[in-house]
Amino acid sequence: MKVLILPDAAQAVGRVTREIRDLVAQRPDARLGLATGGTMEPVYAALVAGDVDLSRVTTFNLDEYVGLGPDHPQSYRAYMNTRLFGPKNMPAAQTHLPRGDADDPAAEAARYEAAICEGGIDLQLLGLGANGHIGFNEPSSSLGSLTRVKTLTNSTRDANARFFGPGEDVPRYAITMGIATIMQARHVVLLATGAAKADAVAAMIEGPITAICPASILQMHPRATIVVDEAAAARLTLRDYYQTVHPGGAEPPPMGRSVRP
Ligand code: GLP
Repeated sequence: MKVLILPDAAQAVGRVTREIRDLVAQRPDARLGLATGGTMEPVYAALVAGDVDLSRVTTFNLDEYVGLGPDHPQSYRAYMNTRLFGPKNMPAAQTHLPRGDADDPAAEAARYEAAICEGGIDLQLLGLGANGHIGFNEPSSSLGSLTRVKTLTNSTRDANARFFGPGEDVPRYAITMGIATIMQARHVVLLATGAAKADAVAAMIEGPITAICPASILQMHPRATIVVDEAAAARLTLRDYYQTVHPGGAEPPPMGRSVRP
């Protein structure tokens, strides 16, 4: 795992945004995996403010609430349309989310998984639930899971209630990429900011690999970049080591020859 600790949330967001910009500059038709949630809002705002051309990328979002159609304001499709796809004029046919209003959510999940597998994902952006979830893979999710319907925990529904109006129910189910689906991405970039994520960040990076903290499986990923701010890094035991390797989240200087010729 590459652990990058940035001084504050704004710089952590900047680091993740740069990762996306650099990939798209190199590969304009990249396949991007996208995430939602409050943490990602400034990432999309930064992409919209910048001049990166996203007209040729293909995107797959991690998840969608079961029962919410694309026009529902709290659907993740609406979130993405408003914050990124619309402002960046991205062709709708290249942006993919599971259909939350599908008649058969299980069949929709299988269709979505197959669409992802067709070309895979070059860079998968991830947020982190305070309970260690990635996508909507809640604690106890199979580490070998594919895209499917998951029941949300009460803690996740409570955490996401802030996006819904008073009296509006947070859906109980979601279609989410599975943990094995996420693990197949060629590069995963996880962003976590703020003190509320500090326990989950420590469990993900330094705890055992366990379904109780689904994000801990990223320890097994050959190319995982974890970008956190100081507040989210607060509970890391090896914090000084990560800072030594990547001071302030920077790339290390090129290695010199350690042995004289
Ligand atoms: C949500 C989403 C995740 C997101 C996470 C954190 O429920 N399904 O993809 O990363 O929880 O959300 P936030 O960034 O709002 O803390």
